Amino acid sequence: MATSTLGLGQSLQEYLLEVSLHEPDACLRLRQQTLAMPDANMISSPEQVQLLMLLCKMLNARNGLEVGTFTGYTSLRLTMAMPDLKMTCCDISEAFTSIAREHWQAAAVDDRIDLQIAPAQQTLDRLIDEGFEGAYDFAYIDADKSAYRGYVESCLALVRPGGLIALDNVLWSGAVIDPEDNSSDTVALRELNQWLHQQAPGRYDLSMIPIGDGLTVMRKYL
Ligand SMILES: C[S@@+](CC[C@H](N)C(=O)[O-])C[C@H]1O[C@@H](n2cnc3c(N)ncnc32)[C@H](O)[C@@H]1O
Repeated sequence: MATSTLGLGQSLQEYLLEVSLHEPDACLRLRQQTLAMPDANMISSPEQVQLLMLLCKMLNARNGLEVGTFTGYTSLRLTMAMPDLKMTCCDISEAFTSIAREHWQAAAVDDRIDLQIAPAQQTLDRLIDEGFEGAYDFAYIDADKSAYRGYVESCLALVRPGGLIALDNVLWSGAVIDPEDNSSDTVALRELNQWLHQQAPGRYDLSMIPIGDGLTVMRKYL
């Protein structure tokens, strides 16, 4: 959830995109349509999604999970870039994901995206019950912030050893260091960041990248 990178400033943000972004027209069209919506700030920033794409290509990813799909920008970008990639996408909103479906169809990637409309934790629990532990190469977590910890635990089960888990919004526009901000999402992200840091040794490698609204990437240990 961030249309650009935190703290970069408009001119430097524009420069960064100008000299680094390679965005297919189909993705640009979806991003422009989304940016005109009242909930525009929920879209993942293009430079962050491009980083995710690069990491997923390095993993030779074939199966991915997205927790929080919105208008489908990330899933469109990733499936267009990787013809062998199949994704399971979770969301609770028919309205947001109807836009995603239109753009997936127009780009002919819809047959590789399995959209699950239900609370994401329910979908993740079902995938585990159905035996998909270790079946995914990566998971991108970008939904309701207070539930991230549960999503991380489930994704650690669903992602294969050596696989990637990425979490969006870990810097939460800087609110995580504001002692006056004790809203539930801020407290949840603050506690999550501490917990992820403590849990890392022995479970996963971790890096917190100041791109977009803050992206933590984790590599599950072999
Ligand atoms: C920040 S947006 C996701 C942005 C998206 N990753 C992208 O590429 O632009 C968050 C999404 O999470 C969804 N969401 C919120 N709570 C959820 C829940 N409990 N389960 C599944 N999805 C949820 C919202 O409907 C919204 O579409």
